[in-house]
Amino acid sequence: MDRLKITGGRALNGSVAIAGAKNASLPQIAAAILSPEPLTLTNLPAVTDIATMLDVVARHGVAVTRLSDHAVTLDAGRADPVETGYDTVRRMRATVLLLGPVMGRFGRARVSLPGGCAIGARPVDLHLKALASLGATIDIEGGMIVGEAPGGLKGARIVFGSPSVGATETAMMAATMAAGETEIVNAAREPEVVDLAACLIGMGARIEGAGTHRLLIAGGTHWKTARHDVIPDRIEAGTYAIAAAITGGTLELSHARLEHLSAIAQVLEAVGVSIWPGDRGLMVSACGPLRGVDITTEPYPGFPTDLQAQFMALMCRAEGASMIRETVFENRFMHAPELMRLGANITLQGTSALVRGGAPLRGAQVMATDLRASVCLVLAALAAEGETIINRVYHLDRGYEQLDLKLRRCGALIERLKD
Ligand code: EPZ
Repeated sequence: MDRLKITGGRALNGSVAIAGAKNASLPQIAAAILSPEPLTLTNLPAVTDIATMLDVVARHGVAVTRLSDHAVTLDAGRADPVETGYDTVRRMRATVLLLGPVMGRFGRARVSLPGGCAIGARPVDLHLKALASLGATIDIEGGMIVGEAPGGLKGARIVFGSPSVGATETAMMAATMAAGETEIVNAAREPEVVDLAACLIGMGARIEGAGTHRLLIAGGTHWKTARHDVIPDRIEAGTYAIAAAITGGTLELSHARLEHLSAIAQVLEAVGVSIWPGDRGLMVSACGPLRGVDITTEPYPGFPTDLQAQFMALMCRAEGASMIRETVFENRFMHAPELMRLGANITLQGTSALVRGGAPLRGAQVMATDLRASVCLVLAALAAEGETIINRVYHLDRGYEQLDLKLRRCGALIERLKD
């Protein structure tokens, strides 16, 4: 397994190209199964999760034509509802997003329950509730979700008790093929949900209200050949913004969209970081002292849970204390003990972490546990004195395209050690 060797203490300066959003690309690849007409996706990030999802849809009979490292044409004209097994879903939980499109297109689906993951139990009950509302019968047989809708799905009113990105996407995709109109109440508002709606509309679907808590989806879609350009990855952009802040440097984040980053931008300004629109994206600069700021993670447009670990690393370098509350997932502080190995002063109390900044970070051996925790350790290592070795960087490659190369180009002393 590859490792990263980082020697900290260098301010990052330069330009970083922000790739397409992983979490927008994944449902859009799954959505291709809905339509017998080709869908071309551009600006896909070249990360392993995308390759995994493309493999999975190919196993469903979708013809995958790679146009470049960042573009693909998906032709589901001859797709079929094969089972998505436990090994696949264990490998990448997001393959559960196949459930909606396969149910919508074929009226039956067999997809493994995902089981838990490093950041929490991550149930899929809201996905199943949405499909049941649309008239499907859902059974669990031997760890498999078995969905049946022999007469097809029927439009319905789906009310989510709490917003869920994935469940909103499942409901929206399935509803495009239901008979009649579907209303989704308390829908997730993330930009990735909005981009999926835009992709589906480009394919011929009729969807209103994307980006609000209430969606209206017409059923019985007549699909057409489509092409969609995936939005830039706001979490990658936020990660590099924090990289500039934690090293006291200045970065240009080309293609980044400030409107997708308002919560993190406000917090970083309060920390003492300057952010402004540049010619090709966002400029981020940190030259003065960093102040401790409290945050609570929330569904969009609140502070994103996917930037919580990265922000915790930053707060280790701030003067003063920061209280970090994680309200989206129940076990998303796995990075804290690893940060403590670098000398961070963090006290965990349930869903809150108190970070006392100011202590110097010193390089050590650390272990990555999930995608965002691993990039948090990279950020801390960039600011630590001496050398840090980060193990299990395959987590990083799932969601960050050429992270070590991008950082090296901005002055970081970072090397990938191939096992
Ligand atoms: C998506 O996961 C993202 N993944 C996650 O990014 C992100 O952290 C999360 O949204 C929140 O923004 C993709 O888009 C592929 P949720 P998702 O359903 O859809 C609970 C990353 O690092 N819940 O909005 O699974 C759930 O346990 C990943 O890129 C249920 O209880 O998130 C969580 O507590 C990590 N039942 C909360 O809702 C359900 O049926 C929000 O989860 C579904 C979710």
